[in-house]
Amino acid sequence: METPVPPLASALGAISDANPEDYREAVLRQVRALTEDNQRLFQSALRSEKRFRMLAKAVWKIQEDERRRLARDLHDDIGQTLTALANQLQRIADDAHAHDNVGLKNRLADALEITRGALRDTRELSRLLRPTLLDDLGLEAALQWLARTLSERSGLAMECSSTLGEQRLSADLETLVFRITQEALTNVIRHSGASEAQVRLMRVGNLLRLQVSDDGQGFDAAELNNPDKAGDSIGVRGMRDRAELFGGRLEIKSALGMGTRVTLVVPVDPEDELQAAKTGG
Ligand SMILES: Nc1ncnc2c1ncn2[C@@H]1O[C@H](COP(=O)(O)OP(=O)(O)O)[C@@H](O)[C@H]1O
Ligand SMILES: [Mg+2]
Repeated sequence: METPVPPLASALGAISDANPEDYREAVLRQVRALTEDNQRLFQSALRSEKRFRMLAKAVWKIQEDERRRLARDLHDDIGQTLTALANQLQRIADDAHAHDNVGLKNRLADALEITRGALRDTRELSRLLRPTLLDDLGLEAALQWLARTLSERSGLAMECSSTLGEQRLSADLETLVFRITQEALTNVIRHSGASEAQVRLMRVGNLLRLQVSDDGQGFDAAELNNPDKAGDSIGVRGMRDRAELFGGRLEIKSALGMGTRVTLVVPVDPEDELQAAKTGG
């Protein structure tokens, strides 16, 4: 149990009649005690913050694991059922063709088309939930796939460049950058009215820098950059909170008519890298 520092006034009051040297000593003792107390409080705040970050990361990891499981179930279970259904329909359609039943053959062709569409959607949904590409091939490949997929879906031109190559980072950091890019690009599609978006990823020393920019209508980002006011903007707040969990920073630059640029700067922890090298991601 730490002894609390007695209030300065009462401690000094007791010796206020003593000689100046004692008085000076007493003040110094008090200042020292207060400084030590402050340091203890500071250390305890640091420990609490570290623990909070660890817990928040753990919650986030559980969410990502759950997504990974859902993505696999979607792909394997529903995906395989739909594949079997499509094959079956194809066989019946072939029979109908052999028996010259044109009406039935056309209806089956429609059913087949719907089934194949559902299969495509299921696979895409599964990959967006958690792309196996991210685990297997790493961040650069996953970002390129994401830009291509969202571009095909939205009709918006998307360009993706990276200086990372096949270099792997820790799985958590790769996931962080992937999710922030996903949210930023989704915002571009939903809100910007842009014709073009760019994703740039570069590593300079131990800093990773991600930029997602668009040439859309832009908006007043002042409120969003104020952490206390970002209130309802769940997407932006989520991006910022996650960036901070990794010791990073997220900044949004935007102005009406001038497009938007989201920048993430996050440190690459050398220990994480070592881990990535051992486990392959
Ligand atoms: N790229 C962008 N272009 C234009 N407006 C944007 C862009 N990104 C974000 N915004 C604005 O910021 C708001 C907050 O974004 P976000 O927190 O992701 O919430 P949501 O997407 O659910 O509306 C959006 O509603 C939109 O008005
Ligand atoms: Mg959003």
